[in-house]
Amino acid sequence: ESTTELDVGAIEPGQAIKAVFRKQPLFVRRLTPAEINAANGVAVSELRDPASLADRTKEGHGDMLVTMGVCTHLGCVPLGAAEGENKGEYGGYFCPCHGSHYDTAGRIRKGPAPLNLVVPEYQFTSDTVIVVG
Ligand code: FES
Repeated sequence: ESTTELDVGAIEPGQAIKAVFRKQPLFVRRLTPAEINAANGVAVSELRDPASLADRTKEGHGDMLVTMGVCTHLGCVPLGAAEGENKGEYGGYFCPCHGSHYDTAGRIRKGPAPLNLVVPEYQFTSDTVIVVG
């Protein structure tokens, strides 16, 4: 199985990059303090697919959200990773195919998708480099 190495050091808070992991889109997003606060301001138990931001990030890198860019409804690529794209009602990602809204932790908040955007297996191999897979 292949891995993908990415230098994420140049991603500014509020920005994301799109990459490819095993032929599927991968989003890496550096959250702003406001986006982190928004994610942490939600009661996890009220979520459709309960998980905290801490559950979905690595210790010491709680501002770096790494998810597959694949809607968990029927597999479209959500918007929100590129500048100017619609981030949806919860400020994260928006899937235009059938209107799923994901929050700043990539968690499903509204629309037909059943699950959060998938966090793939990955590790930081330095302060700024991740290896996915
Ligand atoms: Fe994303 Fe249906 S594929 S909402």
